[in-house]
Amino acid sequence: MSTQKPVRRITVPQIAGRKGGDPIVSLTSYHAHTAAIVDAYADFILVGDSLGMVMHGMESTVGVSLDLMIMHGKAVVRGTKRALVVVDMPFGTYEESPSVAFRNAARIMKETQCGAVKLEGGKRMAETIRFLTDRGVPVMAHTGLTPQSSNVMGGFKTQGRDEESWPEHEDDAKAVAEAGAFALVLEGMVEPLAARITRQIPIPTIGIGASVECDGQILVLEDMLGLNPKPPKFVKVYGNLGGQIEAAVKSYADEVKQRAFPGEAQVYR
Ligand code: KIV
Repeated sequence: MSTQKPVRRITVPQIAGRKGGDPIVSLTSYHAHTAAIVDAYADFILVGDSLGMVMHGMESTVGVSLDLMIMHGKAVVRGTKRALVVVDMPFGTYEESPSVAFRNAARIMKETQCGAVKLEGGKRMAETIRFLTDRGVPVMAHTGLTPQSSNVMGGFKTQGRDEESWPEHEDDAKAVAEAGAFALVLEGMVEPLAARITRQIPIPTIGIGASVECDGQILVLEDMLGLNPKPPKFVKVYGNLGGQIEAAVKSYADEVKQRAFPGEAQVYR
């Protein structure tokens, strides 16, 4: 008989219960090995549709497919055992109707075994969020700068620069909270607006380029590791992985050219 206790993943209610409490730590991850490292420190890991740009060189997240999200979602769930895994619903898989959204969200949850999905939009998505949560799909909402709408917004633009737009953003946040979202990502939003919204709604806000007053923070892993040569302005870069990879690849290439054994492997003698 095994004496090992199974590690329990952080749950959706535990994240929701962190409103106003200890800051929620989160990062994106798209593959098993990085997810395994992040797992020890993050409360939730987002398999974000930013993977289209970060992993697949797309210009925006609009081209990301459901199959791609499911493939990366499976890898992250396999690589982790502790953090809640949230998978993004990509553009075109949930906007049409609540039932289309449910069908696609259920596919994501069944095939990846993730704990929740995330979708973009405020008031206009409230009915869908209610439909999903009533049917067993926990939803994290995402407002402010919503990259899937970048074609309508005319690019990746910080939201709330004009104070007259604040009530609309506040209404979006209240609508998704009332509809049953368990947390709300606030992306690319002026600081005082993100702080106001955080005070106004009963669910945790997760900031990215928003406010330190948010209940938690998220960054794209590759941005903070120094793998993205042009990270967004607000990102603090904690590592130099791009430089380290380049140095390692150069050393390897030099050794191969000198007919040296790559690394120290002499095992074939
Ligand atoms: O797709 C993503 O990585 C995201 C984060 C930026 C929040 O949605």
